[in-house]
Parts: sequence; C-alpha cells; structure tokens
Amino acid sequence: MDNIAILCSGGDVSGMNPALKHFVEYSLKKDLIPYFIYDGYEGLINNDIKKATYKDVAGIINRGGTIIRSARSKRFMHKKYRDIAKKNLDTLNIDKLIVLGGDGSFTGLHIFFKETGIKFCAIPATIDNDITGTDYCLGVDSALNIIKSSIDSIRDTASSFRRAFVIETMGRDCGYLALVSALTSGAELCLIPEIKYNLKYYEKDFTEQIKNGRKYFIAIVSEGIKQSSLEIANWFEETIGIESRVSVLGHIQRGGNPSIYDRLMAYKFVNYAIDALLDKKEGCMVSYCKSKFCYKSLNDVVNTIHHLDKELLSFLD
Ligand code: F6P
Repeated sequence: MDNIAILCSGGDVSGMNPALKHFVEYSLKKDLIPYFIYDGYEGLINNDIKKATYKDVAGIINRGGTIIRSARSKRFMHKKYRDIAKKNLDTLNIDKLIVLGGDGSFTGLHIFFKETGIKFCAIPATIDNDITGTDYCLGVDSALNIIKSSIDSIRDTASSFRRAFVIETMGRDCGYLALVSALTSGAELCLIPEIKYNLKYYEKDFTEQIKNGRKYFIAIVSEGIKQSSLEIANWFEETIGIESRVSVLGHIQRGGNPSIYDRLMAYKFVNYAIDALLDKKEGCMVSYCKSKFCYKSLNDVVNTIHHLDKELLSFLD
C-alpha cells in the first residue's frame, strides 16, 4: 500500500476539518495509508508526521479550524529546511502529498516540487478567494456567512442610533469578501483595493440622503485599501455629518462551524486531489471553474496574477 500525507498551510479556514475527515476515509477506501503532517511545513521540517486513523477524524466535521493545525513557515523558504523536509518524507516512504493553503503556501510548494519532484496536489483554501485559476477557495462561503451575520447584527444597532458603521473585512489585497458582502447586505458604500475611489464622489449624495431621511449608513471596506477604517469613519463624522463607529471583524471571519457548501466542497476537493495523485496527474491544483472541477498546473497558478471576477466588479458601478 502507498502512503499519502496531508498538511494545512497559511490562514486556516472553516472546511479544513471536513477535508481532513474525508482525506482519511477516501485514502483508506483507495488502499492508501493516510498520514497527517502537523503545523504545516513546520511539521514537515520537524518530522511531526503521524499515521491518521478513523478515530482521529471522528466528530470533527462540524468544527472550524484544523485539528492538524496550520502555520506560516519562514524556514520552508530556505533550501536547507526543504531538504530536511524531503528526507523526512522519504524516511516514511511518503511520495504523495496534499497541501491545503493559499498562494504563499503554493509558492513554497512549487519550489519544493521543482527541487525534489515530489508528487503533490494542491487544494485552494483561503478565505481571501484570491488564487489564480479557481473561482472558489475552500472556506470562503463559511467566512461570508460569518460576515453576513455580523453585518446583520451591526445593522440592528446602527439603525437604533443615527450612525454610520464602517465594517472592515479581511482579504489582504483582495476585495472579494468585502465586495460580495456589500452586494448581499445592501451596503451604502463598498471600498476595495481593486477599485480606485475618491470619497468626494459620495459627499453630495450621502448628505442629501441624510436630508431626505436616511438614518444610518453601512460601509464595508476591505483591509487592503489605502486608508484606514478610522479615516473613513472620520470622513463620515466630519464631512457627511453623522456619528460613526468602526467594526473590524478580524479573525472571527476565519472561525466557526463550516457551512454546508464548504463541507461539500471539502469532500469534492479531496476526492479530486486523491484521484489526481492516483491517476499520476502530479504538480497540479484542483480548481473549481464555471461550476466544474478541473486541474490547473501549479506553475501557471503561482506565476499568474490574480484578478477579481470582472462581472462582480461591474456591479460596484
Ligand atoms: O490569508 C487569510 C488571512 O485571513 C487574510 O485575510 C489576513 O490578512 C491574514 O490571513 C491574517 O493573517 P494572520 O492570521 O497571520 O494574522
């Protein structure tokens, strides 16, 4: 029987635990021996690699985070540690690797592959939804649902006062979370890194809206924009003339119960990843494009700049 290992790298997402559960179950079904690598690439370097059993994954499908933990490994950027990592895999006879992570993790994986020829398949998993070649990354739906509930709650208090709320979402340099949340929450203002903005453009409209009876504003801003959320809130106070508050949603967006969609996507991503390795389709990422699964070469994924979906962007106009 062949050995296969899995690790989680970069920001964790809700959906990793369902993926780990299905990884163990589907590997065993396919006569593979599943291994867990703990703490991402750090565990690969530290040889924290253990056989996984049904028992390890019992009762985890409803839990956010990842039971094998994740990390952002600085050491994996250095060849001397990648050599140790390869040696550890060779000692355990592991020649198939699945990595759940984002673009930074995949860049490291790509270098590792070029140096060692390790057979791997990557699964896109980041709430930022900013990986080239796939419309969907595991965890995005769960994060959007957390943001939706948070905005709904903030709206309750915003509408009980006369206030503007500046709600900051994660996403690093990608405005996907902010944009989708703004469209689906009826926000009055949405600012994302992909679109240049000038607050002056909104001044006349917003002050008139207040004159015409508007009581509160919801502004969704992505963490990657040039100004701070506090500066946007000050603009509401000083220029628009409405008391304001800032709510930085932060890491709550990464936690919580995985949504049904993410549980199902976790199942499918893992199936496709294991099938790829069994079919000798190595060096690729499982991609979900136009409602269909396919495989993309990781070389193309890490060497192509990600762009936000044009149609989604057009709705901001
Ligand atoms: O990449 C996922 C992400 O949650 C980003 O949206 C955010 O900028 C970053 O990770 C936060 O990283 P950390 O958990 O290391 O603070």
